[in-house]
Amino acid sequence: MGFKLNITLLFVLLFRASYAEGQSTVFDVKKYGARPDEKTDISQALLSAWKEACNSPTPSTILIPAGIYLLGAVKFEGPCKAPLKLQVEGTVKAPADPAQFKGSDGWLTINRLNQFTMTGGGLFDAQGKFAWSKNDCAKTGKCSSLPTSFRFNFINNSIISDITSLDSKLFHVNVLGCNNITFQHFNITAPDESLNTDGIHIGRSNGVYIIDSHIGTGDDCVSLGDGSKQVKVSNVTCGPGHGISVGSLGRYPKEEDVIGFRVVNCTFTNTMNGVRIKTWPASYAGVASDLHFEDIIMNNVGNPVLIDQEYCPYNQCTKSQPSRVKLSNVSFKNIRGTSSTPIAVKLACSSGFPCEGVEIGDINLVYHGTQGPVKAEVSNVKLKVSGKMIPALP
Ligand SMILES: *[C@@H]1O[C@H](CO)[C@@H](O)[C@H](O)[C@H]1NC(C)=O
Ligand SMILES: *[C@@H]1O[C@H](CO)[C@@H](O)[C@H](O)[C@H]1NC(C)=O
Ligand SMILES: *[C@@H]1O[C@H](CO)[C@@H](O)[C@H](O)[C@H]1NC(C)=O
Ligand SMILES: *[C@@H]1O[C@H](CO)[C@@H](O)[C@H](O)[C@H]1NC(C)=O
Ligand SMILES: *[C@@H]1O[C@H](CO)[C@@H](O)[C@H](O)[C@H]1NC(C)=O
Ligand SMILES: *[C@@H]1O[C@H](CO)[C@@H](O)[C@H](O)[C@H]1NC(C)=O
Repeated sequence: MGFKLNITLLFVLLFRASYAEGQSTVFDVKKYGARPDEKTDISQALLSAWKEACNSPTPSTILIPAGIYLLGAVKFEGPCKAPLKLQVEGTVKAPADPAQFKGSDGWLTINRLNQFTMTGGGLFDAQGKFAWSKNDCAKTGKCSSLPTSFRFNFINNSIISDITSLDSKLFHVNVLGCNNITFQHFNITAPDESLNTDGIHIGRSNGVYIIDSHIGTGDDCVSLGDGSKQVKVSNVTCGPGHGISVGSLGRYPKEEDVIGFRVVNCTFTNTMNGVRIKTWPASYAGVASDLHFEDIIMNNVGNPVLIDQEYCPYNQCTKSQPSRVKLSNVSFKNIRGTSSTPIAVKLACSSGFPCEGVEIGDINLVYHGTQGPVKAEVSNVKLKVSGKMIPALP
């Protein structure tokens, strides 16, 4: 009897894969066979830990301790029985060759969770350099052959903080169908010349908060697709990159409205654009409203303030037909700094569906280049001017 008990105790002490810490049960991936040797794929270990943590009736933590790990494509499925935390303290690297993703559109795909937290100061390095050289999105119009680093699908009441995403192969983060998700101290890094490496792309989600973060990448820092509602970006530095944008909208039928976007207290440095709303000409009908950009610093930024309802990259559209996306209740306030293009403010609204309720003021953007004086261009909108304007409005 005593002997049996001791054996059981020994077993419990030595081999149990989880332990309690505070209110949370901890599942350490090393206990599931993960090795920080940079060459053993930890996806099976991580998925095993996930399965047990997700089944735990009390809050649980999956721990990726310090060390460098290799991780292939993984898909985490919820819902889970209790709040779950992914504590990443190590560096996690993806295989450099996209062929190893076997057509998977995501590196880490996280589906259907409530009260999920990802934190720990860890780094996710997708090693995108090799993939960028294979990128043919511009040529084919499709990027389906490359994985996005993080796909958050149908996640509610969740927090992603103190995590860094490095060198994604395609987008860093895609947020779809989420409600109340916060990104804080979430850093994104990729070189200026990396193709289609959008920072955080949001679609069909309500309540997305991006705060106290740095995003420097090869495409948009943050972009809003259709159905984005109540999105706030504050205290974010963006650059390099293509800026923060709404759209492009209107390209596809049955797009959902974009309502409620606030970009405040942000700094853009050496980006191709600043704050931008883009819709396709000859488009499907759509609505984007309550879009506000305030307290923003521009350092050597192209097109710092831009509404472009004739957005038509690679001439994939008929520019003679107006955009049918209606923009309303838009404001640009207290935006200062330097423009790298002479047209510092351009508000090109649709001739068929003019913008309504657009307010602008306290703009002070200077241009030091050789292509003439700094200018503002405005079409198909009656503006409410609420403060000083440099450049002056036409
Ligand atoms: C997330 O919230 C939506 C809307 O309230 C709900 O339909 C869905 O079931 C929730 N998902 C989870 C995983 O809790
Ligand atoms: C949003 O999610 C956070 C994190 O779970 C939670 O603390 C907060 O109460 C949620 N907000 C709402 C309005 O549900
Ligand atoms: C994010 O970037 C900022 C600015 O570069 C830096 O101060 C901060 O330490 C970084 N945070 C993390 C979690 O890496
Ligand atoms: C802005 O974010 C940075 C981290 O990127 C943080 O160190 C700083 O305290 C934040 N500022 C405010 C006013 O919250
Ligand atoms: C903007 O930043 C300042 C400090 O730099 C802070 O006091 C203020 O609350 C911030 N505003 C918003 C809307 O985050
Ligand atoms: C304009 O947007 C603000 C902020 O989102 C909102 O409070 C207000 O109700 C909107 N006004 C109109 C006329 O829709």
